[in-house]
Amino acid sequence: MCGIVGYIGNLEKKKLIIGGLRELEYRGYDSAGISVLSQGQLHTFKAVGKLVNLEKKCETFASSGFGVAIGHTRWATHGKPTEANAHPHFADFSNVVHNGIIENHREIKECLEKKGHHFVSQTDTEVIVHLFEEKLKTFTDTFEAFKQTIAELRGAYAILLITQKEPEKIFYAKNASPLIIGKGEDGIFFASSDAPLIGLATDVSYLEDQSVGYMDLNGFESLDLVVKLNQDKGYAQKDGFRFFMEKEIYEQHTVLLESMMGRTNEGKVIFDFRDGQFCDEIEEITICACGTSYHAGMVGKYLLERYGKIKTNVVIASEFRYANPILKKNELFVAISQSGETLDTLEAVKYVKTFGNKTLAICNVDNSSIVRECDEVLLTRAGIEKGVASTKAFATQVMVLWLLSVFLGQRRGVLAPSEAETLIKVMVESAKKTEVSHKLHDRIKRLSKRYLHGHGFFFIGRDVFYPLALESALKLKEISYLHAEGYPSGEMKHGPIALADSELFTVALMPEHLLYEKIKSNVEELSARDATICALSAKEFDGADDMLYISPCSHYMEEFFSMMVALQLFALEVAVRVGSDVDMPRNLAKSVTVE
Ligand code: F6R
Repeated sequence: MCGIVGYIGNLEKKKLIIGGLRELEYRGYDSAGISVLSQGQLHTFKAVGKLVNLEKKCETFASSGFGVAIGHTRWATHGKPTEANAHPHFADFSNVVHNGIIENHREIKECLEKKGHHFVSQTDTEVIVHLFEEKLKTFTDTFEAFKQTIAELRGAYAILLITQKEPEKIFYAKNASPLIIGKGEDGIFFASSDAPLIGLATDVSYLEDQSVGYMDLNGFESLDLVVKLNQDKGYAQKDGFRFFMEKEIYEQHTVLLESMMGRTNEGKVIFDFRDGQFCDEIEEITICACGTSYHAGMVGKYLLERYGKIKTNVVIASEFRYANPILKKNELFVAISQSGETLDTLEAVKYVKTFGNKTLAICNVDNSSIVRECDEVLLTRAGIEKGVASTKAFATQVMVLWLLSVFLGQRRGVLAPSEAETLIKVMVESAKKTEVSHKLHDRIKRLSKRYLHGHGFFFIGRDVFYPLALESALKLKEISYLHAEGYPSGEMKHGPIALADSELFTVALMPEHLLYEKIKSNVEELSARDATICALSAKEFDGADDMLYISPCSHYMEEFFSMMVALQLFALEVAVRVGSDVDMPRNLAKSVTVE
């Protein structure tokens, strides 16, 4: 995830800004850059890769006296991780850093190009600084020009801009991406999270959405909602959560919206594939992945067939290559991977390419091996995932597959425009449903103590809730080391029901808006055999020993995302009670690069 730092004051700015960026390294990045404006001169340095590369680039540079400075670590979303795409971006006399996504950057860019602006990067960010300098031609007041610039942007942003026109100020704006301003003995500090501010700032203001302003050495007192900064670094890196996994679960509502950003417009899904005809003539899809990504792929099959009306197969990567698979000429091969480095999936892509089929990566890491190997990519934009047990990566994979299903439905003329429009609204609602309520989390904490023994768990569901059941069982297994299985609820009677007794825990996924009566009778069959039932639903179910209520929803996919969060928290709280290492469970690695 991208990171931002900024500084106004007399300390040596290069050292301070790079030090701040180092505090953000844990969030992951693929390039970095700084700009220092002091004694009227703007100095900008950028480098691909780790911060040591950036340090080498500016080895001989140092600033003295008063000045302003900004810095950025970039996690590529628009454009490859290159030096040109790294921030800060510049125009003639101003520089900018930005976190988030500017949805309407294409329109702005086209318009500015007609006015003679020349762009050097593939990013959405570069338009901000050019638009600002364009506005200055009309508005002599710098802040007015900045406000007018921000008013034209659509999307999520945390922005810091410095300009030779006002060398003692940093202009800032915030909407849906975090931005903090702090004050300490040595000046004013900016950052996108607490960690870089610790030890430097004592008082901070966490900016509200729609904030637009500027700051100089005397401006801090005018800010609202100033609080004391907690100086614990470990706590800061986890944004105050106990575990990275917990933080990542709580982040899902934001990253889900980011995964949609710029990909929908006026009731349509739009993708910026390099080849505009990439999806034309596709008649069938094979999705290939491992583990959690495979479960997302299984959800994708239901969605692609339902909305894209396209036959979809889902295969486990390690089972694919050696089975002499048969691929049709117009079959699209979709590789899903959080890391982009999973060897089984990577080798499957290489194998498929020998047949000449089109390949698409759905991946969280730009420039990873799988992304480089595939013809096209849809980045999931979940930001770095530190918890070994995947949560937000899974959520965004499902969202991207859902977008793809609507995209293909439109493109193939099989999805009515009104239905596509409705589905996009449901996507936004579904993202909102993943915002964790304290009430739900507290309830799960309390409930978890009843599920620590027994001879195993069955998670059961139908349709998209079946792969969610598989994923929930995997989450519980991974971090609590308890045995759990996911099963299609209609299949229980064909064998596993023999295990049913009071020590068999069944977690039943009971959506109101998809096959409720069917799953209800499956659960009743288990309940009649005395299995312990924990039901997830918005609707009361008499046969349950425990009810875990989700908030009422109006679509089954909203229920899907609501239940996903509840089940991730359930796994987390059981793991906490059994005392396992939640973020680094035994025997597991985040990236599996062996066969
Ligand atoms: C489980 C988990 C793994 C990965 C699998 C594939 O929480 O994270 O099952 O999903 O190892 O990894 P990626 O998605 O990186 O290809």
